[in-house]
Amino acid sequence: MSFKVEKINTQPFSDQKPGTSGLRKKVTVFKQPHYLENFVQSIFDTLKDCNGQTLVLGGDGRYYNRQAIQVILKMAAANGFGRVIVGAGGLLSTPAASCLIRKYQTLGGIILSASHNPGGENGDFGIKYNINNGGPAPEQFTGAMYARSREIDVYQIAVADDIDIDRPGETSLGDMTIEVMDPVADYAELMTTLFDFDRISDYLKTGSLKICIDAMHAITGPYARAIFEQSLGAAAGSVIRAEPLEDFGGGHPDPNLVYAKELVELIYADNGPDFGAASDGDGDRNMILGKRFYVTPSDSLAVLAANADCVPGYRDGLAGVARSMPTSQAVDRVAEKLGIKSYETPTGWKFFGNLLDAGKATLCGEESFGTGSNHVREKDGLWAVLFWLNILAVKQKPVADIVTEHWQTYGRNYYSRHDYEAVESDRAERLMQQLRSTVTGLPGKTFGDYQIEYADDFSYTDPVDGSVSEQQGIRLGFTDGSRIIVRQSGTGTEGATLRFYYERHEADPAKQNLDPQQALAPLFEIAEAHMQIQENTGRDRPSVIT
Ligand code: G1P
Ligand code: ZN
Repeated sequence: MSFKVEKINTQPFSDQKPGTSGLRKKVTVFKQPHYLENFVQSIFDTLKDCNGQTLVLGGDGRYYNRQAIQVILKMAAANGFGRVIVGAGGLLSTPAASCLIRKYQTLGGIILSASHNPGGENGDFGIKYNINNGGPAPEQFTGAMYARSREIDVYQIAVADDIDIDRPGETSLGDMTIEVMDPVADYAELMTTLFDFDRISDYLKTGSLKICIDAMHAITGPYARAIFEQSLGAAAGSVIRAEPLEDFGGGHPDPNLVYAKELVELIYADNGPDFGAASDGDGDRNMILGKRFYVTPSDSLAVLAANADCVPGYRDGLAGVARSMPTSQAVDRVAEKLGIKSYETPTGWKFFGNLLDAGKATLCGEESFGTGSNHVREKDGLWAVLFWLNILAVKQKPVADIVTEHWQTYGRNYYSRHDYEAVESDRAERLMQQLRSTVTGLPGKTFGDYQIEYADDFSYTDPVDGSVSEQQGIRLGFTDGSRIIVRQSGTGTEGATLRFYYERHEADPAKQNLDPQQALAPLFEIAEAHMQIQENTGRDRPSVIT
């Protein structure tokens, strides 16, 4: 193939600051001339020496994935990379990309995804860089990338025909080798080293556990079919919406009760499945359902930690657990009982990387439907499903029983998150500023039966490298352990999204069966009284409640 490197003059864009998880923008923004190229060159410039290095590349298959892959391959060749491992069809789930970076010890990887945000021509696109441990680039790195994007004046790209990324095998582009790989195989193999596939398979074959996995027309379809239907022998058709589509079939690939409606209807129907799960656009999130039963993600993390001894990969014990600050404190109670530490980090998976690398934590999770472990450095949707199936195969009990027995032992952490999406930025900013200005005066104040014990804007000092991340969300902690947390989303692409997180612990088993919205109502009232949410947002109710 003919190969020539061109240096293209460009001008910086001012808005290429990565958020909670990489750079996410509307497809129309990414399609502007030089926009993607500038950002990719900023990544390469931040890496400094790319010569002869290997990169992993793939995405969730959303609209613009294939075009972006061609651009990145040509830029990688022009910037001196020696090899790029690409998922066939340009596809790689986020956890599978993390797995490949680790397994083949590459310099890092580029993942194309806007996760759970809708796709298609008018939807969102995203790009993120993961470092050599397989995890999202830490803040110092993304900060340097952003700084570079503000100064960039030239990028390098090979002038060449498009590369065939659909057939597994090797091709070359100049001196660079492109290895097109089956996106599923290495990831599926890693799963067999962690879970008791025989036991799960035997249990599925008894017919006592009918499962339904909703891939939401996103990346997990091929992975879920290979693992659940082919390897474990679940009935054909157990994976629904399995075909990855560029626009996710017009859906919102976010596994929650609102967006995975089809699955939720099935699980609540007569003769419906005993176990249901859904994953998001790029396969790192999970929602777990039992028959007519929804498992709150924070509870899911706690249940996995409490039952880790059922699973071969974790039978030797957990070094520690970690949760993001807004995630409920349910897992802390398990950690206490196990005599291990529970770390509290800011929102975003990148903060778990150091803890996992240092062997301080084995399991991690976020309230936002993310759970994972030290097997990769991303949250992992199908891993969580397998973990649950392994527990069910050992316990041979319904999901609902496992969770309610967990509450009886540890108490129930009623939990809910209220999102106000696409609020005008000024309004959101005003609410945050007003709230921030009140925190120092709050401790000791009472609201009805509740007294504030502490109030602050969460600041995190990484216990491994000492780096400090400030203003990570405002916490109002009450004397009974309840919490209200408020933060602005770092992944939205329209206006501002405000998230309110509510949590209350209930130790009495007789009072553990309330609807969380009812159980948390007093905290909603306190939040409204103190923050005037309706007036400040101009909305009379949240856009999404999880
Ligand atoms: C959201 C979630 C966060 C998660 C991130 C990436 O970020 O809240 O837990 O790590 O997506 O999946 P946010 O929009 O809140 O910044
Ligand atoms: Zn995701």
